[in-house]
Amino acid sequence: MKKIIFVCLGNICRSPMAEMMMRELISERNLDQDIQVESRSTSTYEIGNSPHLGAIKELKRQGVPIVEHQAKQITTTDFNDADLIIGMDEQNIYDLEQMSPTEDWFKIHLAYEALGKKEDIQDPWYDHKFDRTYRQLTEVLPIWLEKLN
Ligand code: 4NP
Repeated sequence: MKKIIFVCLGNICRSPMAEMMMRELISERNLDQDIQVESRSTSTYEIGNSPHLGAIKELKRQGVPIVEHQAKQITTTDFNDADLIIGMDEQNIYDLEQMSPTEDWFKIHLAYEALGKKEDIQDPWYDHKFDRTYRQLTEVLPIWLEKLN
């Protein structure tokens, strides 16, 4: 069983969207027994909270099944258990490297690294452009799935 964890600042917008979209890709490919997917925050800001309504609305609009979720901050156990830890932006990567045991650094990657780019999955917290988040995630998620499989 492989494990991928998506990470953003609050774990209420980008990373839960990535988690739910990746769950759908995994289930379409009948890989549910092979790959586990979760999401976490770097910060404590939103711990225990549900995903942002804008994220849920966009996922529903796109036909992505909604999974029950409460924001959780990443832990040392998560760093140990995961095969891949995918941050949404450069600040996430910086924070993850500060928080993780050095032996797990090799697992940490920027989402757009899948396309050889240094771009961020931009934070929809400020401008509510959840359609942009969805579009950006559709570009990178299938590539991370292939890398895991
Ligand atoms: P996310 O968005 O990192 O994509 O979940 C944010 C959620 C909460 C905050 C910032 C970004 N906040 O400042 O509380």
